[in-house]
Formats: sequence, structure tokens, C-alpha cells
Amino acid sequence: MDRDVLIVGGGTIGLSIGFELVRQGTPVTVFERDQAGRGTSYQAAGMLAPDAEIEFEERELYDLNRESLRRWPDFAQCVETASGQSVDYRNEGTLIVADDRDAAEALERLYTFQRGQGLNVEWLTGEEAKEIEPFVAPRLSAAVYAPSDHQVDNRRLIDALRVAFEAEGGTLHEDTPIDAVVPDAEAPAVRTANGERVVGGRIVVAAGVWSRELDGLTPDATPPVRPVKGQMIQMRRKRPFDLQHVVRGPEAYLAPKSNGRIVMGATSEERGFDTTVTAGGLYDLLEGGWEVVPGIRDLPVDETWAGLRPATRDHAPLLGKTTAPDVVMATGHYRHGILLTPITAEEIARLIRTGETSDWLQPFSPRRFSEAGSTTHSA
Ligand code: GLY
Repeated sequence: MDRDVLIVGGGTIGLSIGFELVRQGTPVTVFERDQAGRGTSYQAAGMLAPDAEIEFEERELYDLNRESLRRWPDFAQCVETASGQSVDYRNEGTLIVADDRDAAEALERLYTFQRGQGLNVEWLTGEEAKEIEPFVAPRLSAAVYAPSDHQVDNRRLIDALRVAFEAEGGTLHEDTPIDAVVPDAEAPAVRTANGERVVGGRIVVAAGVWSRELDGLTPDATPPVRPVKGQMIQMRRKRPFDLQHVVRGPEAYLAPKSNGRIVMGATSEERGFDTTVTAGGLYDLLEGGWEVVPGIRDLPVDETWAGLRPATRDHAPLLGKTTAPDVVMATGHYRHGILLTPITAEEIARLIRTGETSDWLQPFSPRRFSEAGSTTHSA
């Protein structure tokens, strides 16, 4: 009988790779240090926004993001069918808004770049933006509408993925931190924090910001990920306030979910593993959100938190074979973990099943930072 693929990390990435493999008949065990999906995946905003989040000089990453968005509706349907639960896929689009002249100039530079890259975006006056989304501020300087950007409810997604994975026969061990991977072409294994050695067929490291803490990998196979803190606020819809679009202002974004959650984020801070929520962080978000969507003033706040984005040196993910035999990496998704879930799951599952690295994965090789690397990523 085939030995299980052992996946370290039970967030969206680990569970979706597991789901993809088990539904194709490959046995999988996922190890999660805490509760499945209660780390970065839970703390995200669920935006599927390649057009709004495109960065200058990151064309290869944009293409990966865009292809993953193309796959999202089918992926959502598979997860919903297997779990019987909705992931709240929404396709209203993103409004990127400017509230003063400086912000409008920056937005125009972004828009020119987006158009130059052939993106489906539209320049709007403040009044036109208000026709699309009545809850944006009355006197915006300008806006860009990105109708092809979508969103899901990341919290519903992670709950559905977990059910789908187990319904297809996957094994999930929660509260089971993994201390080390033991690369070995014949019998790759992981070692749990209480010393148990579990032998598998292949190992997938999908532990997000915690991936770097695993022992057992040589320095050139250790994922170069670092945490980038993002503070967030969750408010609750109170009608008549009923925001429908993701709105991105210069200092904050708002993502409304169908069940009434309104997720507002996010700071971007280099503070290691610190997840303290600070007065200054909340103040910046509240002010930035209020400038562009003033109706949030009367909304109840029901949660604040700080998440940790797994960032790499070039802000692109680490996807594929490492220099260690039988250890595959799927981490470093930085700002795009939820967006990149379908393509990561499908292409990493294909790699595990066939041994072939697809053209989609090639530029994102985990070996690209080491001298042994055979590919480079130009971002
Ligand atoms: N993608 C949203 C964020 O990183 O805050």
C-alpha cells in the first residue's frame, strides 16, 4: 500500500493540497500545530484581487495570481460539493479609491501601469464610484474599478476545506507540532514535538511563517520566509449600511462578507512573531477606513487581531521540489495565500503524483535563492 503523503501545516494551503491528493486517491496525513486553519488563513481578508494588488515589476507573480483566480470558481464548487458548505464566493469587484490629490496621482500611476499590462480596469470619477458603491465617501478624488477581482470568506473556506478533506478520507492531526523533517529518499519522515517519528511517502512543508523553524533541512533547503504582521479589525454590518464591494483606500481596505462580517485591514509591520494589537495600528486602520467609507463610524466592532504573512525575499511563493530528497515546499504566499490556494493545490498535487514540475511552478522554485538553484525568479 502507498505510504501517506505527510503535510506539515493545516492551513488553507496544506489542507487544499491534501484535499486535491485524497480526492485523486493518494493517502494524506496533515499535521497541524494548533487547530486547523486558525493561523494566517483565519486572519486573512479573503480577497482574490490580482488586478488591485498588482505590483510594479511582478509580472510572473501576477500571471500566477490571475491563473489561480481563473481556477477559483471550479475549486470553490469542488470544496462546496465535498463539504456541503458555502465558501461565500463573491464577484462584485474591487474599487480602489483616492481621497485627495496625492492619492489620486498615485492611483493614476497605478492605473497607467495596469492598463499597460492589459488589465481589465476602469478609471472613474468620485461620482461614478459612488454609483457603483453608494457607501464610499461623497467627495472622492478618483477611483479605479477592477471588476474581475473577486473574494471569498476565508473563515468559511477553511471550515469547508477541513470537512472536505476529511470527507474524502484525509487524516488530520491537530495540536501536533512537527519539530523536524527527516529527508530520506527511501523513507522520508517527520518528527513530532513529543518525539514520535512518522514515516511517509513524501513530505510537503506548508507551514507558512512557521516553515523556517523546522529542523532537519540543510540551510539551502530551509525556506527563507519571515513574518510580516498585519493588524485587522472586524466590524459587523448594521443596515442600512450595506457595503457590497471590496474598497481599497490608500491606508486601509474593507472586505464585506455575506454573513455580515466586514473585515478591515491591514498594517504591514516587520516585527517578527509579535502579534500584539496596538492602539496606533487600530487608529491608523480606523482613520484610513473612515476616510473612504465614512458609514463604518456607527458599526459595532467585534474583533481585532494581528496575523502573520509568510513573506519571502522577492515576495513570491516557494513552490516545488527542494534540494532535500522527497521534501516539497508550498509556502511563502505572503499577501496572496487565499488567492493562490487553487493553483498551489492543483500544481503541487500534480508534482507529487507525477514527479513533474509544471510550467506554472517553474519560476517559483524554492531553490531559486540558493547557489544550487537551477531557476531564477525575475520579480
Ligand atoms: N492581501 C491583503 C493583505 O496582505 O493585507
